[in-house]
Amino acid sequence: MKEMHTYKIDKRFQTRVDRCERVLEVAEGFGIGLEDKEFVVFDNLELQIADGDVVYINGQSGGGKTQLLRELSVQMAARGRKVVNLDEVTFKDEPLIRQIGTDTNDAIRLMGLTGLNDAYLWVRKPNELSDGQRYRLRLAKVIESGANVWVADEFLAVLDRTSAKVIAYSLQKAARQYGATLIVATTHTDMVDDLGPDLRIEKRYREKLRVDTFAEAGRQAAERPMTRDEINDLLLKGI
Ligand SMILES: Nc1ncnc2c1ncn2[C@@H]1O[C@H](COP(=O)(O)OP(=O)(O)OP(=O)(O)O)[C@@H](O)[C@H]1O
Ligand SMILES: [Mg+2]
Repeated sequence: MKEMHTYKIDKRFQTRVDRCERVLEVAEGFGIGLEDKEFVVFDNLELQIADGDVVYINGQSGGGKTQLLRELSVQMAARGRKVVNLDEVTFKDEPLIRQIGTDTNDAIRLMGLTGLNDAYLWVRKPNELSDGQRYRLRLAKVIESGANVWVADEFLAVLDRTSAKVIAYSLQKAARQYGATLIVATTHTDMVDDLGPDLRIEKRYREKLRVDTFAEAGRQAAERPMTRDEINDLLLKGI
């Protein structure tokens, strides 16, 4: 039985509108009040998350995904977890083989873990990689860092959906293998099968919220075989 930790999320903004001629015209024309207001994004939401869970945050633009991700990162860091943001991993302008690992063999081992198995790639620089390949390098660096919480906002939003699904699949596998908590946020709802989330949170505008927990999610996701199309696509793209 995994040990659950409770996170309390309360996020509200005091909004104050700067008055000027146009603002007053809008207020009058559209009948909105300009008094100070409280805008509640999360009203004392309680979430139960175990270390090592995969958390998938969805919801429309402006719903509160980024706020939730930030709040969870802060609270997890405060409880002594080492949190890394996948998007904040930095690269040096030098060959891959030189910027990771304690020596050449260690570098090859780490890159192999995320599917960067090609010697031609090892001698290239990060800016000579595809987005998918760079994401894999990022992931290898996160594994090297030993962080126990991996977070990503706008998760894989710029990639085509097949590549996104393939990377999501290998990312959750790596996270589960290393016992890391993985928290990703995106408006895309098409990665449920690939991530096999333990917890899925859908946050819509204002306080509308839906939280689903999936028992046995990790086991099922780890056992899910990749489809033939996904494997072919992976090979073709070389990601
Ligand atoms: N400083 C602020 N003052 C008032 N409201 C804010 C402030 N920062 C964010 N908000 C509001 O909080 C809500 C949630 O914002 P958040 O950035 O978490 O949305 P999101 O789900 O990540 O959206 P997107 O998909 O567009 O990134 C939004 O409706 C936004 O208008
Ligand atoms: Mg956002």
